[in-house]
Amino acid sequence: MTAPKPRSVSVTEMTEYVLPQHANPFGTVFGGQIMAWVDLCAAICAQRHSGRLCVTAFVDDLHFRQPVRVGEVVRLRAHIAATFRTSMEIAVSVTGENTLTGASWPTVDCRMTFVAMGEGFHPTPVPPLLLHTPAERADQTAAEERRQLRLAKR
Ligand SMILES: CC(C)(COP(=O)(O)OP(=O)(O)OC[C@H]1O[C@@H](n2cnc3c(N)ncnc32)[C@H](O)[C@@H]1OP(=O)(O)O)[C@@H](O)C(=O)NCCC(=O)NCCS
Repeated sequence: MTAPKPRSVSVTEMTEYVLPQHANPFGTVFGGQIMAWVDLCAAICAQRHSGRLCVTAFVDDLHFRQPVRVGEVVRLRAHIAATFRTSMEIAVSVTGENTLTGASWPTVDCRMTFVAMGEGFHPTPVPPLLLHTPAERADQTAAEERRQLRLAKR
């Protein structure tokens, strides 16, 4: 089995400047664009942890809480919440930012499941996550319950 890895090595942050091509007719970021950035940020996090190319297996509910306008900034942060055998739960938080005023606001929080792919495009085991704190252990336990619900939907 591969050596366990701490969460810190795979934390992934992205910053995107919102341009007109990212916007809907209201001048706010198109939801599909946010979803694409979330998917990319989470994929990089999953690949940093596993050291493998990964595919998206499941996306939990997405709730778009507040919009981000053209000329503002979208910040994304992904961390690994839990590992299973070949899959990982990644938590992504998205924040809007106005660089002129310094204001920032929550936009989306999302959890995604990625599967690490090995030879022949088959799922392959991932390193376990080092769980240092009670909060990290609680996150792993809660993720195991969420995983059962996701698998029940297959
Ligand atoms: C995700 C995928 C690899 C799973 O393949 P599979 O034949 O079901 O393989 P397995 O049954 O061995 O499952 C592999 C892992 O995926 C997990 N998984 C599969 N479906 C899942 C779902 N709906 N939700 C959460 N986890 C899921 C399994 O629990 C398992 O994880 P584990 O080893 O940690 O327990 C396959 O369904 C696939 O390739 N889907 C398309 C992915 C894709 O194209 N994504 C978009 C572009 S990246």
